[in-house]
Amino acid sequence: MYTSFLSLSALLAAVLGSATHHAPQCTESLVPITASATNFDLSSGSAPPNATLPVSGTFDIHLRLCAPTVPVPSRARTLQVLIHGASCNEEYWDSTFKPETYSYVRHAAAQGYWTLNFARLGDGESARPDGIDIVQVPFEVALVSEIIKLARAGRLPGEHSSFEKVVILGHSFGSITLNNIVATAPDLVDAAIFTGFAHTFGPTDPITVAKFGPARDIDPRFADLPPAYLTTLNASTRAAAFYGAPDSYEPDALAWDEAHKDTTTTGEVLTFQGGAAAEAPSFTGDVFTINGDADGIFCTKPGCANLADEAKFYPAARSAEFAVIPGAGHSVNFHIAAPAAYGAIQRWLNEHGY
Ligand SMILES: *[C@@H]1O[C@H](CO)[C@@H](O)[C@H](O)[C@H]1NC(C)=O
Ligand SMILES: *[C@@H]1O[C@H](CO)[C@@H](O)[C@H](O)[C@H]1NC(C)=O
Repeated sequence: MYTSFLSLSALLAAVLGSATHHAPQCTESLVPITASATNFDLSSGSAPPNATLPVSGTFDIHLRLCAPTVPVPSRARTLQVLIHGASCNEEYWDSTFKPETYSYVRHAAAQGYWTLNFARLGDGESARPDGIDIVQVPFEVALVSEIIKLARAGRLPGEHSSFEKVVILGHSFGSITLNNIVATAPDLVDAAIFTGFAHTFGPTDPITVAKFGPARDIDPRFADLPPAYLTTLNASTRAAAFYGAPDSYEPDALAWDEAHKDTTTTGEVLTFQGGAAAEAPSFTGDVFTINGDADGIFCTKPGCANLADEAKFYPAARSAEFAVIPGAGHSVNFHIAAPAAYGAIQRWLNEHGY
C-alpha cells in the first residue's frame, strides 16, 4: 500500500525524530467557544429522527496547542487536530505513561507538526453542561467546527499565524465527531484520519461490555457530576471493551488508563450510532482509516477487513485508504503496537504530501 518515497525534510525529521521524543512546548488555555446546533429531543429515552431540540451556548474548552520539537519547514503551517474518544480526555493523545513511546503528540512534534489537542465538551477541564440535552453528537460537531475555524484563522492562544493545512485525527467517539465534520463542513478539513472507527459496528457493544454507569457511583473523582455523566466500571470491563489480548498491552498502561479515565454522557450514548452512519459525499480531501485488528467495536470482519468498505462513504475524496495494525484493540494508543500505528500514520502523511 505504501510507496517508499520520502521527501528529504521528512526523511531528516524521521531520523532526528527518533532521538527527540521529548516534551514539546505547549500553550494550555481555557477558551470560551460558542456554537449552535439541532440536537435530538431525548426525552423519550432514544433519538427519534424527527424529534429535535435546537441548542446553543458558550462553553469553556481546554485547549493544548503544542509546537514542533523538530522544525520541518514544509510543515510549519500544518496543524494536526486531535479528537479523543468517550471516557477519555486529551491524555488519550498525550499520555504521561511512558510518553516517549505512547504520546502521539510527541511523535507528531518530532515530525515537525503543530498539534491542537483538547478535552472534548464534558471531559477533563472543559465545561460539563447538561449531559442529555447539550452533550450530544450534533452540538459537539458544531463546537469542534468552531475550534477548527479559530485554528485556521490563527486565533488560538499560543500561535498567531493562520494554519494552511489542517489534518484531523479522531479516535472512536472523536472519529464519529470527525465523520460528521467532513459530512457537514467538508471545507474545514484537508485530511481526515479515523482511528478506532468504521461505519459498521462489530460484536462488542461497548456500553454493556465496559459496563458504563453513572460516573459519580463509580469513581470519587466524579462525585459531583449529575447522573447523565457515565464512565466504565473498572479495569477489567475497560480492557474487555477497549483492549486486545492480554499480551498486546503493558498491564501498567491499562492501570494508567483506568486511573485517568474520564466520562461520556447519556446524550453521547444515544446519538453515537447515528453519528457513525453519516456519509460525506462532498468531502474532497484525503481519508485514512486505521484500526487495531482486535477492535471488537468496529471490526465486523476477521482482520478488520471491513475497513475496505469505508471508501464508499467518501465518494468525492482525493484518496481513501486504510490500514490494520496487528495486535491492537480499540484503544490503539495504549497498546504495545501504538508506535507502529503512529509510524503507519506518518508514512501515509508523507505519501499524501502533509
Ligand atoms: C415522529 O415521531 C412521533 C413519535 O415521537 C411519531 O408518532 C410520528 O409518526 C413521527 N413522525 C414522522 C414523520 O416520522
Ligand atoms: C470488575 O467488575 C466485574 C463485574 O462487576 C467483576 O467481575 C470484576 O472482578 C471487576 N474487576 C476488577 C478489576 O475490579
